[in-house]
Amino acid sequence: MLVAEEAETIAELADVASPPAHIAIIMDGNGRWAKKRLLPRVAGHRKGAEVVRKCVRECSRIGVKYLTLYAFSSENWKRPEEEVKDLMGLLKHYLNNEIDQLHEQNVRLRFMGGRERLSPSINELITSAEQKTLNNNGLQLVLALNYGSQAEIVMAARELAREVAEGRLSPDEIDEKTFAEHLYLPDIPDPDVIIRTSGEQRLSNFLLWQAAYSEFIFVETLWPDFDENSLSQAICEYHKRERRYGARP
Ligand code: IPE
Ligand code: IPE
Ligand code: MG
Repeated sequence: MLVAEEAETIAELADVASPPAHIAIIMDGNGRWAKKRLLPRVAGHRKGAEVVRKCVRECSRIGVKYLTLYAFSSENWKRPEEEVKDLMGLLKHYLNNEIDQLHEQNVRLRFMGGRERLSPSINELITSAEQKTLNNNGLQLVLALNYGSQAEIVMAARELAREVAEGRLSPDEIDEKTFAEHLYLPDIPDPDVIIRTSGEQRLSNFLLWQAAYSEFIFVETLWPDFDENSLSQAICEYHKRERRYGARP
């Protein structure tokens, strides 16, 4: 077996160290990638979807347990109708075409975000993808769709308030654990690392609660140019960080 000293490439080095259990990615920069090539924005989104395929495969291969991808934010509805239509079309295409392969790779597909604004056909695809892959015990791939972290936190607060009002919960029982149990996917551990591509350094309403102790890695690469090597580099960077959780080293 390869040991760290013998690893020659970044990919090998990332392979040696155990991978982070949960990687979350803000896949940004599709529009700029297309603009640089004088292509329509949708071409960037299309290329971005291919990168998703590659990253999922690589995360499965190296033994990542959870990969959360920010695919469409609750604020992305503000974009021109045409672009929203293109993004939803690509999403449908991805779900229709990838599900069998994901299933073969033992990937469990899950979703987080508000379902109500997504079309009935997308909702059907989501439900069937979740059901089909429910018992897979490989990588859990979480797609954040129509996701907004503030809305998620409000939803949890509202549900807790309802339980208190109905006498099912006492206000004193509300702590970090109970609160987190009311978020979208309470069984999934918080991300160890959040990667954002394209040089922007913000969360854009992604996993505000869950990011409490995540490591942040911001890379200049535009999402359509991100590849296995970029992922390995990010994992290497993650391994250099010392996670202290407020305690002394
Ligand atoms: C990310 O790329 C994809 C989504 C937000 C859906 P962008 O479309 O935001 O690309 P830029 O940031 O304009 O380059
Ligand atoms: C964040 O990217 C959302 C996704 C990657 C899906 P945006 O491009 O929407 O974020 P802002 O608007 O630059 O903050
Ligand atoms: Mg963007």
